[in-house]
Amino acid sequence: MKMSSMMPDVREVLISNQEIQAKVRSLGERITEDYAGERILLVGVLRGAVVVMGDLMRCIDLPCEIDFMDISSYGSGTSSSGVVRILKDLDEDITGRHVLIVEDIVDTGLTLSYLKRSLLARKPASLEICALLTKPSRRRVQFDIKYLGFEVPDEFVVGYGLDYAGVYRNLPDICILKEEVFKTGS
Ligand code: IMP
Ligand code: MG
Repeated sequence: MKMSSMMPDVREVLISNQEIQAKVRSLGERITEDYAGERILLVGVLRGAVVVMGDLMRCIDLPCEIDFMDISSYGSGTSSSGVVRILKDLDEDITGRHVLIVEDIVDTGLTLSYLKRSLLARKPASLEICALLTKPSRRRVQFDIKYLGFEVPDEFVVGYGLDYAGVYRNLPDICILKEEVFKTGS
């Protein structure tokens, strides 16, 4: 494949697309086994989860529906405050359904712990989490991520759905940007 025109901004490829694809396939196989005989609803958290959602759903061999939520964290800058505002709620009623939240990355965990609480209040038959990435050293709230792709160090990562200032989501690999990109902006 031709190299991305965004590669000059990249300091390091942390996880290659090939590794991601293999991991997503194995997560899809586990989900397929665990929910055998059931119909599931994948709930993607906009916008970062869009890419992993697209690949993951095609690795799940079950009747499967999808829905999306858009949430924004109150508070300033890059760290989330834990107070979350729902910008777009689910279209589906999840009562009595098997719900699997799909997230790009669990950082402090504040966003997902709020989301979990909010969805559990709607009485789904089950609620589990699938996250492509997690940064264990930054975790502030503990909860189980049943389907986890990779643990990453405390670095800001982009690509495969994850953005910096709205861009780099379409990079195929998970990458760390060069310092100067954060200084100059784009
Ligand atoms: P949390 O509430 O701190 O767990 O925030 C999780 C959200 O922050 C993720 O869904 C991402 O949108 C964003 N985020 C956290 N770390 C990164 C990163 O390294 N790159 C891009 N987005 C990130
Ligand atoms: Mg997100």
